Amino acid sequence: MKNRIFLSPPHMGGDEIKYVQKAFESNYIAPLGPQVDAFEREFSEYTGLQYCVALASGTAAMHLGLRYLGIGPGDEVLCSTLTFIGSVTPVTFLGGTPVFIDCDRETWNMDPVLLEAELERCAKAGNLPKAVVPTDLYGQCCDYARIYEVCERFGVPVVMDVAEAMGARYLRTDERESERAGESESVKADEEGLKLGRSEVGKSGTGRWLHAGKGARAAVFSFNGNKIMTTSGGGMLASDDGELIEKARFWSQQAREPFVHYEHTEIGYNYRMSNILAAIGRGQLAVLDERVRRKREIFDYYHAALGCGDIPGIEFMPEASYGRCNRWLTVVLITPEMFGVDCEAVRQALEAENIESRPVWKPMHLQPVFELATERHRKTQTDKRKYTARCVGGKVAEDLFERGLCLPSGTAMTNSDLDRVIDIVLKCRRA
Ligand SMILES: Cc1ncc(COP(=O)(O)O)c(C=O)c1O
Repeated sequence: MKNRIFLSPPHMGGDEIKYVQKAFESNYIAPLGPQVDAFEREFSEYTGLQYCVALASGTAAMHLGLRYLGIGPGDEVLCSTLTFIGSVTPVTFLGGTPVFIDCDRETWNMDPVLLEAELERCAKAGNLPKAVVPTDLYGQCCDYARIYEVCERFGVPVVMDVAEAMGARYLRTDERESERAGESESVKADEEGLKLGRSEVGKSGTGRWLHAGKGARAAVFSFNGNKIMTTSGGGMLASDDGELIEKARFWSQQAREPFVHYEHTEIGYNYRMSNILAAIGRGQLAVLDERVRRKREIFDYYHAALGCGDIPGIEFMPEASYGRCNRWLTVVLITPEMFGVDCEAVRQALEAENIESRPVWKPMHLQPVFELATERHRKTQTDKRKYTARCVGGKVAEDLFERGLCLPSGTAMTNSDLDRVIDIVLKCRRA
């Protein structure tokens, strides 16, 4: 059997072990320490989000961010339906009700038109949601400009789920206008820089390209093992609001009051990132630009072999004109009537050759753990193990789930590994 090709395994840069060594030398084998402080500082410099707190997971970061916004029983939070459940479970931890919003076909992210219509409807009903949580799916930035504009109009804060989008960028609103007006030479130059992995582009939160998550009330990052940068497990809550981050830091350390003895006036959590894991994060951050460059190269390689039009029935996840996706995963849509077989048959053919691929996230509104409000009204008995939710639209996400397949996209893959995958996909076609 040939070597296993995983979907998106960790890829160490080399310096991680040196920082881990330093953590050992200092004996800060603890959920605090100089590596955590340095990681937070370097993370803020990279993303341009001024304040941040390193945590045990992205899910923990979302929990703290939403708690700060005061979500409680009876409150609704508008979330992307096409996402991973870690984006949504924190709403239920707080007793809130998730409302799933469908995505659009251009970006596969939360549809701003549906979002606006739902906010208008909620405003008329006098029941605005407490927050909006859009996901930057597979490393593609949502339409930040439109989502921010709509949410600002209704006074609803945005918590961006940037778990998959470390290293992704979006174009500032004013620059989008100048691009449309044809004044975009400098935009093109930056584009070239991003392609080459030039690290200064999009940093510091001041240029024409902003890092994913910038501008939201809070942004949630994940360093889970499959992400473009990993600490094995971990997350970050980041914001330009220092008070929000300080409160989250306080809750993440069991809400310990500043006394020598242990004093608590609030309930907190044990959510802090360990000093050892932060050491890994520092090494990973240092090679992130290189990883984004390779992820984009992998997408281009697959696209050149499978997506140039002569193979009917395969489409690739589009890239929004205002953004630079990190291409965390290369995702294709397979239309069985044109390709010959469906994406599950392709997945099984890859698996038979020891290659991991995965379906697109199953939309939240199809998850059996949620009981949609419309469905609930039809039921005579409510299942207590289920959580109430609502859904707006959903057909686009359902279609993407039905036809979508995530291809192996590990940055350590060689071109001959990619050829192995491509050959199998091509062999699946109807002869
Ligand atoms: C979109 C999205 N949101 C949230 C999470 C949760 O992050 P974590 O696994 O670090 O808790 C993940 C990934 O794991 C994710 O992909």
